[in-house]
Amino acid sequence: MSNFFEPSLRRESSEIFDQRAFIIHYTLVLHGHGMGNRMSYMMIETEARGRVGLVRLNRPEVLNALCDQLMVELGTALTSFDANPRIRAIVVTGNERAFAAGADIKELQGRSFPDTAMDDFIGKTWEVVTTITKPVIAAVAGYALGGGCELAMMCDIILAADTAVFGQPEIRLGIIPGAGGTQRLTRAIGKSKAMEMILTGRMMDAAEAERANLVARIVPASDLILEALRLGEVISGMSSIAAVLAKRSINRAYETTLAEGVSYERAIFLSLFGTPDQREGMAAFVEKERQAREGR
Ligand code: CAA
Repeated sequence: MSNFFEPSLRRESSEIFDQRAFIIHYTLVLHGHGMGNRMSYMMIETEARGRVGLVRLNRPEVLNALCDQLMVELGTALTSFDANPRIRAIVVTGNERAFAAGADIKELQGRSFPDTAMDDFIGKTWEVVTTITKPVIAAVAGYALGGGCELAMMCDIILAADTAVFGQPEIRLGIIPGAGGTQRLTRAIGKSKAMEMILTGRMMDAAEAERANLVARIVPASDLILEALRLGEVISGMSSIAAVLAKRSINRAYETTLAEGVSYERAIFLSLFGTPDQREGMAAFVEKERQAREGR
């Protein structure tokens, strides 16, 4: 597969490897685990529901404020589900009140410029979310603010409860979004609306977020997890190689021109004709048609 990826993608892969190595190292040091031990988390909960990995952010007392440790744990959990062949899609969620109310402001308050730059703050930990190869669904109820909104936008699909509230209120703290908000929100909802939200800190409810194409759809809050897992299960039922490469190709649309993006898509499309999934998928379709014809 790798031979038709451009050099820029190969460079990205080595950066991804560095980030992942950091995450695993940091977590092992943090919790004093040996390499063979099962990872235990303090700020998230994880479980496998069939072929879907579920990660629940778990700092309810601070509306799931995204501190360093939580982001390291999240990166580790996602990376571990990504590497697990039994898992084919991942759901990230919070609780009824908050998906996440942003980066942890109490932790941010003590940060200074040289430290943030030297630590590669955000880059080293948060960006791991964007390196996950399997489809990731953000199931959002309550607040998704600042870094919380940015985290949801790093995922592949946002499923919103009718209680969801999205916003980038960083300007009220004297800063701007720092985990991709000015870029991903603008691409999702357009310049004018993104400007208004980011320059004023105005929040939008689920209905407005759906109208603005920030979210795929809205479901009743009581059904959110079930619907997100159902969506993950539908994706899991598809060819896993096709799902992973479809995600990669869609994400390419954000990084390149139309002509290059279509060419990238075409190379992936053609490569899928070398897979058993294509042969089995098409043979099953043709056989079903034949049986239906003969049954008529
Ligand atoms: N960081 C740290 N603590 C937070 C937090 C955050 N982002 N958001 C909420 N909390 C804490 C509150 O301090 C409070 O803790 P205490 O009980 O110890 O006082 C607890 O969570 C509950 O919050 P509130 O009492 O404020 O709840 P509320 O219902 O009155 O208000 C809210 C809810 C409107 C979401 C309000 O909490 C709020 O405005 N939070 C901050 C939102 C924000 O500015 N996010 C951007 C952060 S910066 C960022 O994300 C940078 C980036 O781009 C990476």
